[in-house]
Amino acid sequence: MTHPTADLTISEPVSIETLRDVVAIDGPSGAGKSTVARGLARRLGCPYLDTGAMYRAVTWYLLQRDACDFADGSSVAPLLGALDIALDAEGRVTVSGRDVSSHLRSHEVERRVSAVSALSVVRKRMRELQRAMAEHGLLVAEGRDMGSVVFPAANWKFYLDAAPSERARRRQADFLAQGREVSQDDVLEEILVRDRLDSTRPDAPLTCAEGATRIDTTSMGVDEVIEHLARIVERERT
Ligand code: DC
Repeated sequence: MTHPTADLTISEPVSIETLRDVVAIDGPSGAGKSTVARGLARRLGCPYLDTGAMYRAVTWYLLQRDACDFADGSSVAPLLGALDIALDAEGRVTVSGRDVSSHLRSHEVERRVSAVSALSVVRKRMRELQRAMAEHGLLVAEGRDMGSVVFPAANWKFYLDAAPSERARRRQADFLAQGREVSQDDVLEEILVRDRLDSTRPDAPLTCAEGATRIDTTSMGVDEVIEHLARIVERERT
């Protein structure tokens, strides 16, 4: 199962009102969105869209071009025309055919991604691409603005949250699994900075969308959350 490869020059506007067969999952970093969304998509037999990975891939791309010290989006806009991002069902991300998955959680990308994703010119391109990916049937999409901006007509909207200390613990475990040792305090600080930047930017800030079901995953296991969401979606799809 692969996502359609699409370049960022898509010009066909997609009517967002028609994009209903979507499970939109939003929430802050470390709330368990990626793991839950991937597991839920597997269970429902549909593709999974990790929009955070897309913003990370753009950040990586701009870092490669020394284009991350921008004052506004005007210096970045010309670079986006040549950008081609593709994601596959295993979560691998390619930029112009190159697999960049192993770079997406580097310290540099982590540090810059909130600033890059705050640029309206970047968000507009990402929205087009994300909506194009929802035109082919049921999709589980996770990020910060799935239910509020990208798929406001989604049939299912969830907002996953967890206590900051638990989010930092999970994130630290992810890093350890990738061979990166970071203290929980450092991870917590990084998470809190990103939460603040992501939820205070003017364009599509992190928010619990209207009509979304809020779920506190602090003391829930991943399988439990997936089961909970799957039951809701399956009940309403049949
Ligand atoms: O989910 P994540 O940690 O991989 O996301 C990385 C960054 O991308 C996050 O700090 C904010 C940004 N992002 C966004 O602005 N909108 C989205 N839909 C998804 C992620």
